[in-house]
Amino acid sequence: MNVTLLGGGMITHDQLLPSLYQLQRLGRVGAIRICSLSQEALEQLAAAPGLTRAFPGHGFTPLVGTYEGALRDLRPGELVVVALPDHLHFGAVRAAIAGGHHVLCVKPLVLTVEETGVIEREAREAGALVAIEYHKRFDDRSLMARQAYRAGRFGEFKLGTSSLLEKWYYRHSNFQNWFTPDATDAFTYVGCHYVDLVAFITGLTPVEVSLYGLKDRFPNGAEGWLWTDARVVWSNGACLNVQNALGFPDAAPGSNTQGMRLYCSDGERGAWIDHSDQYRGLAWCGVNAAEGQPLYSEPSPDYFQYVDRGGEGLEPVGYGYRSVEFAVARALEIKDLPLERRRELLRGWDEAGILATPANSVYNAAVIEAARRSLAEGGAPVRCR
Ligand SMILES: NC(=O)c1ccc[n+]([C@@H]2O[C@H](COP(=O)([O-])OP(=O)(O)OC[C@H]3O[C@@H](n4cnc5c(N)ncnc54)[C@H](O)[C@@H]3O)[C@@H](O)[C@H]2O)c1
Repeated sequence: MNVTLLGGGMITHDQLLPSLYQLQRLGRVGAIRICSLSQEALEQLAAAPGLTRAFPGHGFTPLVGTYEGALRDLRPGELVVVALPDHLHFGAVRAAIAGGHHVLCVKPLVLTVEETGVIEREAREAGALVAIEYHKRFDDRSLMARQAYRAGRFGEFKLGTSSLLEKWYYRHSNFQNWFTPDATDAFTYVGCHYVDLVAFITGLTPVEVSLYGLKDRFPNGAEGWLWTDARVVWSNGACLNVQNALGFPDAAPGSNTQGMRLYCSDGERGAWIDHSDQYRGLAWCGVNAAEGQPLYSEPSPDYFQYVDRGGEGLEPVGYGYRSVEFAVARALEIKDLPLERRRELLRGWDEAGILATPANSVYNAAVIEAARRSLAEGGAPVRCR
């Protein structure tokens, strides 16, 4: 199965392309093509030192131009990985389905419930896989919490607090061109991860959101909602607070700060789940710093790392890799099956709820939609559709 990656930006460099190269090394995917508006960005990606060191001899076909052009001459039955700015996902995923392909899309799939419904319907009719890349689901701590919660270990979720603040330097990236107030905000960009995890772990559904935001400026002068604080109310009345920003100090340890604490109860005793998703138990301080890194850091061994296992180059490990691997395995599983059998398998995966799909994670779009309205109204509570 050949793969066409739409978007050659940060997430492609950090997670998607190395995961696909590793699957290529294992013989599970064939040729890789990458489409981007910028030739320079594709040249930088092809020559990126981390990738060339880990995957000597691997490469991709660069396609400079729009995603529509990249999909035009593609044979049906391939995998399209969508890693474009959020507001382009709807058009790109639909175009991929219409071309007869399977899709892995970075989160958030789309920004409204209606758009999710359109994709769900079109994918079901075509018997196409549409997987949404919520990689935190493939962190074993999330799978452990889900299993234990669903076995009744914690009673019921009551109150939670979570945060994910990306580093300040994100402001210097291509984000300044698309992270505009009309398109997105810090919660829409990364808050969805913890909303999705709470649903994934507890099986509860978000019903109301209020989102307060602060605007700030990118280096190019563009404004964006760069600091947000969300309050998400759940179907059982529980409440989750989510703080997000592009503002964690560059000099601070780790590549961001993030984590989640859920307080639960069975009515007689309190219970508690605590994820430190930034400090993963590894800290080091060097005599020399890696380029752009502070001397002291707390690298996460869990999300995505390259390790030397004695073979050629380096191997990617972590839940960032496992998440892509899982979705690619599902695409391979169904790609040659007849339509009815594909639909049957897709229904089973919707119900299992491990892989995020339009049918089983539409609440993410409902939350984003309500959050965007709330933000425009200064943080007023808005019901989810
Ligand atoms: N934690 C996560 O799951 C995570 C992390 C980072 C990004 N993301 C998501 O990944 C997506 C991309 O983010 P990024 O940080 O890589 O962005 P980026 O700005 O670094 O890259 C975007 C890429 O899309 C390309 N592009 C833009 N418009 C295009 C068009 N019309 N046709 C073809 N290519 C086009 C650009 O040229 C660029 O290569 C976003 O939806 C973001 O929310 C998810």
